Amino acid sequence: MAPALSALLTSLFASAAFNAIVDEIQPSDKLFQLSGCDISTFVPDLPPNQSQLVLPTNATPSFIGLAFGVQNYTCTQSNNFTNVGAVAELIDVSCIVSAPSFSTIQNSLYDVWSIVPYHIQDIINMMHLINPPEILAQHYFVPNPVTGQGVSPKWDFRSSGAFEGVQDAFIIAKGKGTLPAPTNSTRDVNWLDVVNVEGDIASEVFRIDTVGHQPPATCTFGSTPNLSVPYVSKYVFYGGSLYHAGAH
Ligand SMILES: *[C@@H]1O[C@H](CO)[C@@H](O)[C@H](O)[C@H]1NC(C)=O
Ligand SMILES: *[C@@H]1O[C@H](CO)[C@@H](O)[C@H](O)[C@H]1NC(C)=O
Ligand SMILES: *[C@@H]1O[C@H](CO)[C@@H](O)[C@H](O)[C@H]1NC(C)=O
Ligand SMILES: *[C@@H]1O[C@H](CO)[C@@H](O)[C@H](O)[C@H]1NC(C)=O
Ligand SMILES: *[C@@H]1O[C@H](CO)[C@@H](O)[C@H](O)[C@H]1NC(C)=O
Repeated sequence: MAPALSALLTSLFASAAFNAIVDEIQPSDKLFQLSGCDISTFVPDLPPNQSQLVLPTNATPSFIGLAFGVQNYTCTQSNNFTNVGAVAELIDVSCIVSAPSFSTIQNSLYDVWSIVPYHIQDIINMMHLINPPEILAQHYFVPNPVTGQGVSPKWDFRSSGAFEGVQDAFIIAKGKGTLPAPTNSTRDVNWLDVVNVEGDIASEVFRIDTVGHQPPATCTFGSTPNLSVPYVSKYVFYGGSLYHAGAH
């Protein structure tokens, strides 16, 4: 693997996004734990006075991932873009949810990720060669398992770590709620609330703290090529039956 890519990954995770919070957590000692902490009492910061993203009352958070990747769009006959999939890598950031700058860590990561000249799939492959314990899951789309029409989002925990090879350690989901990003809805993709269709890793997932990945407002059907746009977000996983068997 190219040394340049390896160096880039090191800077992506060791330096740009995380150094600020490392200083907050352990100013005198750069060794700190990022992954593998209990987040059952964590409460995501959702905008007030909205009914689209509703935290479940019968489940607690099991996992939280800081994700970087791409959202894919294709130009429709209405000459606007529609979302047709995504590929992202999720980093387990469960140990830093109480750090003061946790609420803005996605901005630091986006600043680096949006200028990285590598395909997300190559980065994922590279990370899996190194296989650090911080890898939580991969996000991608699969054919809709219920209707067979279109695609459904999936978060897959089975390729590494505590759930490697565990058959049902994934969730395929369907939409429940969607909210324009309270940050900048022209730039940042919607926040989401999706619920389980298949898999045992979670009953519900929230996409929050999004940065990037909105496509241009218009395009020309038949000539504008498909788009892959970088984005960063957090995914909070609630419930699921595998949590106690996992890393905690
Ligand atoms: C939420 O709605 C209530 C009732 O309409 C209002 O009094 C309150 O100011 C709103 N809060 C925010 C943060 O908008
Ligand atoms: C694209 O345009 C169509 C027709 O105006 C509209 O129904 C649809 O919601 C638009 N899609 C997006 C993603 O804005
Ligand atoms: C999304 O685009 C990436 C390349 O940027 C590609 O690897 C991936 O297969 C695409 N996925 C979907 C569902 O379109
Ligand atoms: C929101 O994002 C758009 C697109 O990046 C940008 O043009 C606009 O200035 C931003 N608005 C604010 C208030 O930052
Ligand atoms: C663009 O994406 C659509 C939907 O995923 C796909 O059907 C089409 O083949 C893609 N076009 C190109 C040129 O890759």
